Amino acid sequence: MAKLHIVGAGAIGSLIAAGAEKHGVAYARYPKPHSTIPETVKWNDSDIVSLSAPASTPSCLCQDDVLVLPLKVYQLKHALLAWSSYLENRPPLVLLHNGLGGDEIATSVLGENYPILLATTSHGALKEPDGKTATYTGLGKTQIGLPRRGDMARNDKHLPWVQEASALLNTALPPVDLVDDITRALWQKLAINCVINPLTALNNMRNGGVLLKEYDEIRHALCREFAIVAEQYGLVFSVQELEKNVLSVASLTAQNYSSMHQDIAMDRHTEIDAINGYIVSLANKKGISVPTHALMVDRVKGLVL
Ligand code: PAF
Repeated sequence: MAKLHIVGAGAIGSLIAAGAEKHGVAYARYPKPHSTIPETVKWNDSDIVSLSAPASTPSCLCQDDVLVLPLKVYQLKHALLAWSSYLENRPPLVLLHNGLGGDEIATSVLGENYPILLATTSHGALKEPDGKTATYTGLGKTQIGLPRRGDMARNDKHLPWVQEASALLNTALPPVDLVDDITRALWQKLAINCVINPLTALNNMRNGGVLLKEYDEIRHALCREFAIVAEQYGLVFSVQELEKNVLSVASLTAQNYSSMHQDIAMDRHTEIDAINGYIVSLANKKGISVPTHALMVDRVKGLVL
């Protein structure tokens, strides 16, 4: 029976584990040593799902298993180096994180041909302050797909390993949409994070604060610079479309604190390098100036100094 191997002790990984537990999918969890890992998840129907104890030593994974990495981009390299010796059967990896840059890290550790899927989710989950419980705060969906590669064929998403890995995740935590162009979906999400995350962290406000008139100008500047950089990398977005998406997510999640707001509040490392920092580094490679994204990076880094 194919098994989901879930790395880390975060809210989304716990949610996937709880879905696997509820829906009869075999799973194992691998938190970092000494981290507090949720033991239960409060499901969205108030059901309390008890999770299996963490598996301390990963055994060699089977080819039809799936290794899910719901980690921050800055944690990925270390995790993949630690896992690489258990991956000789080449089970598929699923990278699930805010921001971009994870695929580059994974291919640098495992090689261009390693079977990798990229995913983004809009399910809401929250790790409670005691660290021992997580709560499913909002039903969403997960989009998954193959990263763009030079030799990619139109029908690659029909490859058996791609279908099987996404079906396994869909059984655990539906709905999972296997999409043709995950890269575009990830960039769309990146634009949302480039605006909501730094503005909420810097101004100590909930996501709904981003809707205020006083942020019109900066929202627009961030979306405009984003669209210019994206176009240089073959992705065409209209500034209006990006701003509309940002406003829609800010209003749907108006009462929530963004992950970057939470990271700052809890004195944790932020994902700014994989979000606005990713845009700055792509812009630099093309000699484009993105002063508003650069300002966000400097100011968020200033908060954690
Ligand atoms: O990082 C986050 O908090 C989320 O991705 C989002 C979409 C901004 C909602 O809070």
